[in-house]
Amino acid sequence: MRKKIVAGNWKMNLLNAEAIKLFTEITTSLATVKNVEVLAFPPSIYISELSLIESKIGLGAQNFYPKDKGAFTGEISTAQIKNIGVTHVLIGHSERRAYFNEDHSFLKEKVNSALDYSLTPVFCCGEPLEIRESNTEFEYVKNQLIESLFHLNETDIQKCVIAYEPVWAIGTGRTATVEQAEAMHAAIRSWLKEYYNETIAASISILYGGSCNASNAKELFSNPNVDGGLIGGAALDATSFLQIIKSF
Ligand code: PGA
Repeated sequence: MRKKIVAGNWKMNLLNAEAIKLFTEITTSLATVKNVEVLAFPPSIYISELSLIESKIGLGAQNFYPKDKGAFTGEISTAQIKNIGVTHVLIGHSERRAYFNEDHSFLKEKVNSALDYSLTPVFCCGEPLEIRESNTEFEYVKNQLIESLFHLNETDIQKCVIAYEPVWAIGTGRTATVEQAEAMHAAIRSWLKEYYNETIAASISILYGGSCNASNAKELFSNPNVDGGLIGGAALDATSFLQIIKSF
């Protein structure tokens, strides 16, 4: 019913030739993979070149500025990333929230702009360590969704993908346990039901991210509410990324 998705977030890694090599290696091995949508979020400067390679991998942008055009030196507009063949965008990643001060209202603007350009938002949410330690992670994540995503109408929310990425698990090697992941994913689905309805809640893919790798993906993906993964470090190696894709 809902899509299984494995997405690689390459972050600020790889030089041009390395990016092409990785994309090509994954593309070649994908021939035998069925029923999983595979996405790559390379650094934006490589997307045009990667889009020329015939591939089942969908291309996403890690970032964009939610304006059509104008005097915003150094930024890349939603129109520009759409124009080079991007289909998906990351919005609300904890690194953008923390290092670039992207707040709830700016993230809401990014969601709206992405949808205006028929781009699929992969909306990231997740709590920092101190929030988990104070046992308030459910309220925290629910609030992130209410502030930047749940203003959407029934038609538009169904165009989105949600990624739960506990901040304490990102790049730390400290993966959420299967129980922790499933509990939050089930909660997110229950909020979708509360704000929309059961059919919509059942149709939206919710990915897990945070030190997901070839050894733990199978266990994480076996949860009923985990529909795939948003992978950082382990997406930079074709073999491990492929193993994750084949973990369903
Ligand atoms: P990680 O990153 O897999 O390296 O923890 C995930 C992410 O930030 O999307």
